[in-house]
Amino acid sequence: MSRQTDNFYNHFSFLYPVVDLFLKPQKHKLFQEINKLPTGQLLEIGVGNGSHLKLYKTHQVTGIDTSFSMLDTAKKHSTANIQLLQMNGEELLFPDQTFDYVILSHVIAVVDQPEKVLEETYRVLKPNGQIFILNHFTPNNWLRHIDKAFQVFSKAFHFKSVFHISNLTTIKKFTLLNEISFGQLSYFKLLIYKKA
Ligand SMILES: C[S@@+](CC[C@H](N)C(=O)[O-])C[C@H]1O[C@@H](n2cnc3c(N)ncnc32)[C@H](O)[C@@H]1O
Repeated sequence: MSRQTDNFYNHFSFLYPVVDLFLKPQKHKLFQEINKLPTGQLLEIGVGNGSHLKLYKTHQVTGIDTSFSMLDTAKKHSTANIQLLQMNGEELLFPDQTFDYVILSHVIAVVDQPEKVLEETYRVLKPNGQIFILNHFTPNNWLRHIDKAFQVFSKAFHFKSVFHISNLTTIKKFTLLNEISFGQLSYFKLLIYKKA
């Protein structure tokens, strides 16, 4: 985690509800998938302002984030089955094989070290545990030029506009179970993997 990313989210948290509106349909699908799974221990890395926390219907949820400001807002949405902690997803303070599910919703292209987050996710997942990655993924069509053109600006907003999941070595330790695309251009996807 870099201090700059942290500062950015501490200052940006009041604007996040606007982003939330745009992400609503994707999150609806994410929670449809999550809530149909057997009840388990679930970790959400980069839980953000937690406006979606009410959508967790069945699991025992631990939400972590590095931004105290995002977590402060998230606490207002928290319920009895949810604990919120300030923690870095690159250095999780949980023992090995603690969780059945890990959620990374619009986080993998934000963290400084996505490989570390995936390594830590692998470590804390139980055998056959699942990871849900919701994000934009740079496609092989004309949209990749826009991602590239936006690269300079995206740094200012603390995310990577050009993002290819296949460039991450650690993802190969997981088995892809399902790929759900959103919209006609399939720019946003929900990828569900199992710990092999
Ligand atoms: C784009 S927001 C996504 C929030 C939420 N998951 C959602 O889908 O709306 C990214 C969040 O990741 C958090 N974050 C960034 N780096 C992190 C890290 N290394 N560990 C944990 N959280 C991190 C930021 O503070 C921010 O709240």
